Amino acid sequence: MTAAVLEIVGAEAQERLGAALAAACPRPFVVFLEGDLGAGKTTLVRGFLRALGHAGAVRSPTFTLLEPYALPAGPVYHLDLYRLAHPDELAYLGLRDLLGGQSILLVEWPERGQGELPAPDLRIAIEHLAAGRRVQLVPVTPAGAATVRAAVATSSGVYEEKGISRRIT
Ligand SMILES: Nc1ncnc2c1ncn2[C@@H]1O[C@H](COP(=O)(O)OP(=O)(O)OP(=O)(O)O)[C@@H](O)[C@H]1O
Ligand SMILES: [Mg+2]
Repeated sequence: MTAAVLEIVGAEAQERLGAALAAACPRPFVVFLEGDLGAGKTTLVRGFLRALGHAGAVRSPTFTLLEPYALPAGPVYHLDLYRLAHPDELAYLGLRDLLGGQSILLVEWPERGQGELPAPDLRIAIEHLAAGRRVQLVPVTPAGAATVRAAVATSSGVYEEKGISRRIT
């Protein structure tokens, strides 16, 4: 399955990638967002949620771990596991049950929940560049691969103009 590597300059462009992924991904769907503090994980999630009709603020649920969004197309759950001391602490959230339905799960700091999270369809690895970020979209399942293809295809022309360039696909 082919990964896409994007160079994204600016938070607005980062949100637009999130929106493109939201438009392309099926349900159920699990996304792991990997990258250092300040990489732009929550920014991408914000674009994703807004594209599905969420109008309010989007903040990392650092202390509550899980933020549910009831959206017209179905539920989206945003997790931030930065403060998790041990993956065991996730057991009580009942994540596997959440995914039984038509949910989307977006997980920041997934490495901290190892063993307690459902397998991802898509891994998004974000690194800092001198200006902007390098964002790798790494599909894990066929659904993830289809999502990456659709998201990159629908928006690549726009990206060139507005701060996202597609380096490798
Ligand atoms: N592609 C980008 N280019 C430039 N700045 C960006 C980009 N994406 C996000 N930013 C900016 O980076 C900062 C951190 O973003 P964000 O809060 O999304 O990071 P995060 O990965 O969620 O961090 P944390 O691990 O602390 O939750 C914000 O000021 C945001 O506007
Ligand atoms: Mg965050």
